[in-house]
Amino acid sequence: MARLSFLALAASVLAGTVAASCPKPLIIDSDFGSFDDDPLALGLANIFQLWGEAEILAVVISTDYKLAAPAVDAIDTFYKHPDIPIAINKPLSDATQTAEYATPYGDYITGLTYDFPEDVRTGYNTTTPLALYRKYLSEAADKSVTIVLIGNTINLYALMESPADSYSPLSGIELIRAKVAELAVQAAANGKSYNLYSEKPLDAEFVVDNWPADVPLTYIGSNIGGNVRFGARLTTELDLSVNPVAYTFNHSVGYNLSYKTWDATAMYYAVRGLDDVYAFNFTKGHDVADANATTSWLNNGYNSSENGVVFAANGIGNATFAARLEEILLWQPGDAIPASLTKNTQCSTSMPSGVASSVAASTVVASSGVASASGVAVATGVTSVAGAATATGAATATGGASTATVSVVPVSSAVKATTLFGSKIVAALVAAFVLFN
Ligand SMILES: *[C@@H]1O[C@H](CO)[C@@H](O)[C@H](O)[C@H]1NC(C)=O
Ligand SMILES: *[C@@H]1O[C@H](CO)[C@@H](O)[C@H](O)[C@H]1NC(C)=O
Ligand SMILES: *[C@@H]1O[C@H](CO)[C@@H](O)[C@H](O)[C@H]1NC(C)=O
Ligand SMILES: *[C@@H]1O[C@H](CO)[C@@H](O)[C@H](O)[C@H]1NC(C)=O
Ligand SMILES: *[C@@H]1O[C@H](CO)[C@@H](O)[C@H](O)[C@H]1NC(C)=O
Ligand SMILES: *[C@@H]1O[C@H](CO)[C@@H](O)[C@H](O)[C@H]1NC(C)=O
Ligand SMILES: *[C@@H]1O[C@H](CO)[C@@H](O)[C@H](O)[C@H]1NC(C)=O
Repeated sequence: MARLSFLALAASVLAGTVAASCPKPLIIDSDFGSFDDDPLALGLANIFQLWGEAEILAVVISTDYKLAAPAVDAIDTFYKHPDIPIAINKPLSDATQTAEYATPYGDYITGLTYDFPEDVRTGYNTTTPLALYRKYLSEAADKSVTIVLIGNTINLYALMESPADSYSPLSGIELIRAKVAELAVQAAANGKSYNLYSEKPLDAEFVVDNWPADVPLTYIGSNIGGNVRFGARLTTELDLSVNPVAYTFNHSVGYNLSYKTWDATAMYYAVRGLDDVYAFNFTKGHDVADANATTSWLNNGYNSSENGVVFAANGIGNATFAARLEEILLWQPGDAIPASLTKNTQCSTSMPSGVASSVAASTVVASSGVASASGVAVATGVTSVAGAATATGAATATGGASTATVSVVPVSSAVKATTLFGSKIVAALVAAFVLFN
């Protein structure tokens, strides 16, 4: 492969070889701590961000475990995104898992918090999910944000019921209609789903019944992830003391065992769409939920943007999909990026074989999707305090791998803690400081 200069690569990216939808901005809404599949999904999202496919604007949490937020930060930090804004509702509890499902979903948030690098320390050091939802939706481009609901609905309910505030003159519903590209929900369009009934079923009923008809909403049911089982290789091939996703899986499920992976299957859809995996079974109908959050799909006379996915009849199927998800999660920062894993039909032209989308950090704060195939440095600006990334060197793409020398200036935890969530203003100031010193 030809040697490419980093600037040439960046210029080609800026010139439009990246489809507008990539990287796809995500807000992840997770019941982190309850099951072992949320860490899998969060790991996938972080990897997709390093590969230029996604940009995690924020992670909001719908459990009340005080260690859930630092545990999320441990995973983000492992994937070089230590300043993705995280929020959880207060008051918090000392619980570390859902007692009802203690086996096999063991407490993994304690280990993630205390045995892996992170700097949130406790959920009390974070703002509210509603604040992050409203801040990042209000700042996003129109119809750009994909909300990935892999937890219960309490945060989304709060958003939908929210009035205008200092972030936006729009109500929650108006913000959603203006800014959201799609809501991807790990739940079934027909039937009972844990994410809908587990916490406040009336909130779920409200969200399902009142989601605006013109904003795409897609259900990825549990029957999918229930048959997509993997994880054994994460525990046997990765260092369990270094890779937090592998640690979590081993701790929850066990060594050399595979398990159902619901949220991971929803995250894959959220970032890559139907791809060669899924097909829409339901479209253009309208879903309703009862007071127990049991959903029913209505077909007649509706013209909404709601969908339900199933495995495509001619798609890759359970086992191949499981193997693909596991291969992606076996990837770690510093590894070469296998071209076979980075095919994203929504941004296919941005993925020359073996080379991650390398968007130069020339505008510092706005940089996202910065990745290096060789992993010399992997930086991402995100829209957060972490955005102080500067490209300092030339990158070469040789033999299918690119090396971008990117210096990342981590913002101190003190800054993050005192601002409570990523502030672009702070990021800009820090960036300016870095640039002019
Ligand atoms: C963050 O949490 C730690 C540990 O509980 C605490 O000592 C510190 O005061 C907190 N920082 C802020 C800004 O709340
Ligand atoms: C369905 O809704 C879309 C916009 O959401 C609109 O363009 C289309 O005309 C509608 N179709 C019918 C049959 O009402
Ligand atoms: C991995 O899980 C097994 C139980 O299946 C446990 O015995 C072992 O200690 C775990 N390894 C680590 C490093 O936590
Ligand atoms: C994992 O389990 C499989 C059987 O399911 C076995 O063939 C393999 O040797 C095991 N690997 C390790 C590292 O224990
Ligand atoms: C697709 O939807 C139809 C109609 O609701 C349902 O009967 C069928 O079981 C669904 N197919 C799958 C594979 O879920
Ligand atoms: C909800 O569940 C309760 C308890 O199982 C049941 O008594 C009630 O009829 C259900 N409500 C609806 C609307 O299905
Ligand atoms: C997935 O696995 C289930 C359960 O074994 C099976 O019924 C279904 O046909 C499989 N679907 C695909 C597409 O592999």
